Amino acid sequence: MRIVLVGPPGAGKGTQAQYIAKHFSVPHVSTGDLFRGNIDRETDLGKQVKGLLSAGELVPDEITNAMVENRLAEEDARGGFLLDGFPRNLGQADWLGDLLAGQGTALDVVVELQVPQEEIVKRLSGRRTCRSCGEAAHVVFNPPKTPGVCDNCGGELYQRDDDREDKVQRRLEVYAEQTAPIVGYYREKGLLVEVPATGEVEAVTQRALAAIKDRA
Ligand code: AP5
Ligand code: ZN
Repeated sequence: MRIVLVGPPGAGKGTQAQYIAKHFSVPHVSTGDLFRGNIDRETDLGKQVKGLLSAGELVPDEITNAMVENRLAEEDARGGFLLDGFPRNLGQADWLGDLLAGQGTALDVVVELQVPQEEIVKRLSGRRTCRSCGEAAHVVFNPPKTPGVCDNCGGELYQRDDDREDKVQRRLEVYAEQTAPIVGYYREKGLLVEVPATGEVEAVTQRALAAIKDRA
């Protein structure tokens, strides 16, 4: 199964991706997590992109596409994957289509998580992210069993730089200008399923799985 998850910042892509990826036994490939991992390890790539992430701006396509190509070439992604945060503009969407066509494959489904803007701001302002595994918790909506500690791996939870309110506004603008057009692009290709993404995390997962199975 080759799945893309799309939706505004804070829509719950990362939260849902872990369950959906597990259900279909495919790796969860998050470009945001890959960039943040490089920033934490202070790699050359991390140094190049750090300022862009904290400002809420997109990383240039050449850098992002090369990183995705390397990740998708790994053994575990050959038979399928769940992409979270990629593609994020029409250029990346075309590039991904060409990459997969060159390998004789294609996407199976694109899942759009739909959340109203006022809910997004609440979700991002209370989000805490694990430094080790990237999983998200929320101080009110999805609190960790022990404050400050990741339920998944025991790692340290921190607040992302780009979750400050001024940065959140900029990320929403970037989404509307650059990423939202890919929803129509995939709808025209007959690949899009729309999933209302408010309510309990588990209810959203069930809705997403049902929509994917209907489509696939
Ligand atoms: P990225 O990490 O992809 O950030 P994003 O798209 O802004 O998405 P988020 O991680 O903020 O949100 P999410 O939808 O995963 O929500 P989550 O599950 O955490 O990208 C970061 C940056 O990297 C970009 O700004 C850019 O600089 C760069 N980048 C990445 N990909 C790129 C690309 N392709 N090209 C160029 N640049 C790229 O949930 C949010 C919160 O809500 C959590 O606290 C969670 O616990 C809570 N929550 C989740 N579900 C529910 C629910 N049902 N009810 C209540 N609360 C909930
Ligand atoms: Zn963790």
